[in-house]
Amino acid sequence: MNITLSPQSFSNYENNYKKNPSFTSNYQVLNKRRPYCTYFFREDLQWGNFVRYLNLRFKDADKVNIYNAACSDGTESYTLIMSLIKHLGKEKAKKFFPIKGFDLNQRQVNTAKSGEIPLLPGIYYLCDLFSIKFHTLFNDKKFLNYVTLKNGKKGVKFKDDLKSLVEFRQANIFDEIAKKKKNEENCVFFCRNMWMYLKEDEQEKLAKMLSEVCGHNSIVVLGNYDLSAAHAHSLLLKNGFEETYIDNVYEKMV
Ligand SMILES: C[S@@+](CC[C@H](N)C(=O)[O-])C[C@H]1O[C@@H](n2cnc3c(N)ncnc32)[C@H](O)[C@@H]1O
Repeated sequence: MNITLSPQSFSNYENNYKKNPSFTSNYQVLNKRRPYCTYFFREDLQWGNFVRYLNLRFKDADKVNIYNAACSDGTESYTLIMSLIKHLGKEKAKKFFPIKGFDLNQRQVNTAKSGEIPLLPGIYYLCDLFSIKFHTLFNDKKFLNYVTLKNGKKGVKFKDDLKSLVEFRQANIFDEIAKKKKNEENCVFFCRNMWMYLKEDEQEKLAKMLSEVCGHNSIVVLGNYDLSAAHAHSLLLKNGFEETYIDNVYEKMV
């Protein structure tokens, strides 16, 4: 298997998977070669539409718990926080905080906790598309309200008021979900771009566990690679979830 340290890693994985459907990977293989591969406003979720959807869906809830499984270096949680505040305003966004982020990798969790996120050239600048995207981001005044730029734009540091809206921990998703009570209402599980780290039986187990913990008005959010390089979509449908009108968002039919 040839995994390079770049956003292409997933394409390689996907091609291998297509060539040989019995090809499965695991945490050790993928994580050793390419530990990060996450970026701000990852385009497989329409962030603006998504948070407006959250606002409508949870309009009657006083509190909504958001679990950001496989949060990596925190980029995803910070993207969500910025989107919630931008589109809903601070007051309406309040009930979604604090977001609870966790990841198996201690080093990534340390970075997330520090709020100081390096943008590694090996990952972020190999591909022109991403460079352009970051260039735009750095010139976006709203984004710059939340961060200070580090090392000549090679990293960002989130300000304390934003950092206080998320709690990060090191945890395995299976242990974390096993601790949860069944049928939790009004919760959001982010499990994005992580299913391909799991073997097939683990993917089945995760879908079943998510189905058990998600109660009334609870949703699961996937990433594109969970659909193309893993079986998350069909497994969620098999376990009582349905697609919503927002791409990659699934609701539990209770
Ligand atoms: C490619 S990153 C995805 C980051 C982010 N969710 C995104 O979509 O941009 C995959 C992350 O999954 C984490 N991961 C893999 N298996 C995990 C598990 N069993 N429990 C928690 N995190 C896991 C890895 O450590 C890695 O940080």
